[in-house]
Amino acid sequence: MNVRGRAALVTGSGSGLGEGIAHRLAAEGAAVMVNDIEADKVERVVADVRAAGGRAEGRMADVTRKDQVEALVAATAEAFGRLDILVNNVGTAKDRSIFKMEEQDWDTVLAVNLKSQFLCSQAAAQRMGRQGYGRIVNIASRAWLGWWGQANYAASKGGIVSLTRTLALELGKYGITVNAIAPGVIDTPLYQSLPEDTRARLMHAQPGLKIGHPRDVAWAALFFASDEAAFVTGQVLYVCGGKSLYATPAV
Ligand SMILES: NC(=O)c1ccc[n+]([C@@H]2O[C@H](COP(=O)([O-])OP(=O)(O)OC[C@H]3O[C@@H](n4cnc5c(N)ncnc54)[C@H](O)[C@@H]3O)[C@@H](O)[C@H]2O)c1
Repeated sequence: MNVRGRAALVTGSGSGLGEGIAHRLAAEGAAVMVNDIEADKVERVVADVRAAGGRAEGRMADVTRKDQVEALVAATAEAFGRLDILVNNVGTAKDRSIFKMEEQDWDTVLAVNLKSQFLCSQAAAQRMGRQGYGRIVNIASRAWLGWWGQANYAASKGGIVSLTRTLALELGKYGITVNAIAPGVIDTPLYQSLPEDTRARLMHAQPGLKIGHPRDVAWAALFFASDEAAFVTGQVLYVCGGKSLYATPAV
């Protein structure tokens, strides 16, 4: 799967899945712009990618802010001469039952998870369209199918699926594909931050009783980002160990 010589921007790549995707793309020969809202994370991942022999630059930006997104996309194109691959990875969770969910929990999760993907895709598509080539990979979640305590998170991820399908229709004629990955439970700092009993419940709801690793998602992202995936667009690929196959936890 070829991404050699391509220029990629991976949002929220200072940690977890994004970090794994940045490393995978760089290892396969793409130049990668590492982005995060936390500067120290950006610096660490850029240093790690370079130490592994890859090409990386870094830029701190809050991708819920249109002005910062436009500057981030411009900086990527300036650093590498073009922008071929956008991985919309940034995400957060604020789980609560519907009776306890605050308005702010809803607004924050929708902005970080969904609005960021709209803003980044819009800015990137303008450049990709002029090039006649682009790959947009949106990180959704298996949770878009529904999960307890995740009204805000699931709705944001369902919105990503709809956004993906619609942008695939609109951008196809410009040589841009748009696909989504729906991960299940993956071992990242986000997962590790959950209470122990929540983590245990999630583990026991897995068909294989094991959770995923960031590299599982990175391989899927590499496929959608590659030249070879030219005829694949508007799709959702579950990387969830089979958890999308049923609606309720095992008894
Ligand atoms: N870990 C899982 O089990 C899992 C499962 C399904 C989907 N996902 C999705 O995968 C994506 C990555 O999750 P993760 O587990 O790696 O999380 P993570 O918290 O480890 O990494 C997310 C990164 O995004 C950064 N970030 C947050 N808000 C930002 C903003 N406004 N601008 C720029 N950067 C920002 C954070 O600082 C962090 O470094 C998210 O979209 C998440 O919803 C994760």
